[in-house]
Formats: sequence, structure tokens, C-alpha cells
Amino acid sequence: MSTKLLLVGGGRMGAALLGGLLNGSWADPGSLAVLDTDAGARDRIAAAHPGVVVVTEPVAADGVVLAVKPDVAEAACRLLASAPPPRLLSVAAGLSTARLAAALPPGVAVVRAMPNTPALIGAGVSAISGGETAVSADLDWAESVLASVGSVVRLPERYLDVVTGLSGSGPAYLFLVAEALIDAGVMAGLPAEISRDLVVGTLVGSARLLAESGDAPGELRAAVTSPAGTTAAGIRTLEFKAVRSAFIEAVAAATERSRQLGR
Ligand SMILES: NC(=O)c1ccc[n+]([C@@H]2O[C@H](COP(=O)([O-])OP(=O)(O)OC[C@H]3O[C@@H](n4cnc5c(N)ncnc54)[C@H](OP(=O)(O)O)[C@@H]3O)[C@@H](O)[C@H]2O)c1
Repeated sequence: MSTKLLLVGGGRMGAALLGGLLNGSWADPGSLAVLDTDAGARDRIAAAHPGVVVVTEPVAADGVVLAVKPDVAEAACRLLASAPPPRLLSVAAGLSTARLAAALPPGVAVVRAMPNTPALIGAGVSAISGGETAVSADLDWAESVLASVGSVVRLPERYLDVVTGLSGSGPAYLFLVAEALIDAGVMAGLPAEISRDLVVGTLVGSARLLAESGDAPGELRAAVTSPAGTTAAGIRTLEFKAVRSAFIEAVAAATERSRQLGR
């Protein structure tokens, strides 16, 4: 069977993509190959996904997904000279399509993506950008791969640093909020487990309400803020502590850091 996709890097993100592709019947297991330099990762992939081809050297494939850490991504691209694919999708943070293309054999169309960690449970959001030689068929292909682990938006590459600072780092901001709220419940006297359950339920329910109602977040906030009520007192404190401004500054700082790392 010819190889439809070679996944270079079968770690957390690579394994999540592989699981999504198989669950969505994107390809038969035997047409998917995983290349990983780590024997433990190869064993985990082989045990979790029987039938998937596990290799230690690049094999010819219709497309490659590059899911290794950014510091080894260019070296991994250079290794593909032995079996150049027609197209490559990179999920390595911060590495531009131009840098990847320079490390690849000539003629490989490059698409770069910024996914986020909810992809690990199929609920990610990714932005994709095509490099200089990528055409719409390459973007369609990349979108079909990433759609297996969540939703996908297409953007010019100049926006990818902002995407990194917003949705790439976004789960960490929300986990920080979750930690703070759980602590707040405990400090106000709730048992830790109950506080956790209440906070997780509140975050999941609020996210679903925001997504499913289509209402603006400000409208949903106003709907639970009665005049002189409890929520108004809480929101007043958050505004006094400049929480809104803190998030704006956090995204700006993460965006700038992404720019620095990509240089
Ligand atoms: N995890 C996320 O949620 C997330 C979110 C957004 C973007 N990303 C991006 O996804 C990429 C992968 O992240 P990850 O968390 O999945 O990393 P990871 O768990 O470390 O997985 C990478 C795997 O690739 C292996 N590897 C290293 N060099 C290789 C090579 N030349 N050829 C083949 N395999 C090689 C690694 O082995 P060793 O351990 O021996 O090095 C490891 O098993 C990163 O660039 C990251 O920026 C991840």
C-alpha cells in the first residue's frame, strides 16, 4: 500500500493527529507511517495503533506532517532529502514557511500551522498559512489533516505570531484562571474537590453557552450582572484589578515573544 501520509514526530501532538486521522477514517492505518527517533514513542504508536507503519528513516509519501520540537524541525526537514514529499504541513511553533522551505529539498510546498493543546482531545483550533509555493490544494490538504483534531482557520502568515499569542497560548491563560478560581473557592471555605468540580463545570458550561448562543460575551456577562448584585460586586473588583488589561498585555507579550523566537 502506498503511504498517504508520513508523520515525522509521534509525540503528544503527532499522536493526537494520528488518532484524529484514524478516528475520522481520513486514511487506512496501513497508509499512514510514523517516523520517530525515540524508540519509546515508536513503541507507544505501534501499541496504540496496530497497522500503522512505524519507521526509523523517511519513506516516500503523498504528504508529510512535521510534529517535532522547533529546535530539531530544520534538521528533520533536511533528512527528508532521501524521500522528498510533494507537500509538508508543519505544526512546529514559530518556524516560518521560508525557513522550513530552505531546509527542505526544492519543490516541497510548505504549509505552517499553529494548533493548540485541546487538539489532544479533538477540540483544538488551528490557524494555517501557505508558504510561497503552496497552492489552494495544499491548504485544502492541510485543513483536512488538522480538521481531524478540531476547527481550522486560514490566515496570511503575518498573523501567525498573534495566533500563537492568542489561541496557541490561550489554553494556558484559561488554566491559570481555573487555578485561581479553584484557589478562591478553597480560600472561601469549599473543599478542594468541590471547588474544582464547580470551576470546571462553570468553564465548560460558559464556553458552550458562548459558542452555542452566538451572543457576544459582553451580553452574556450583562445577563448575569444584576444592578447592585453579587456579580456586579465581583466584576467591579476584576475591573479595579485591571484583569481586562492584563489579558491584553499577556497576548501582546506572547505575540512579541513568538516574533523573537521566529527570528
Ligand atoms: N503539544 C502541543 O499541544 C502543541 C501545540 C501547538 C504546537 N505544538 C508543536 O508540535 C510540535 C511537537 O510537539 P510535541 O509536544 O508533540 O513534542 P514531543 O512530544 O516532544 O514529540 C516530538 C517527537 O519527535 C521525536 N523526534 C525528535 N527529532 C526527530 C526527528 N528528526 N525525526 C523524527 N522524530 C523526531 C521526539 O523524540 P525525542 O523525545 O527523542 O526528541 C519526540 O518523540 C512542536 O514543534 C510544538 O511546537 C505542540
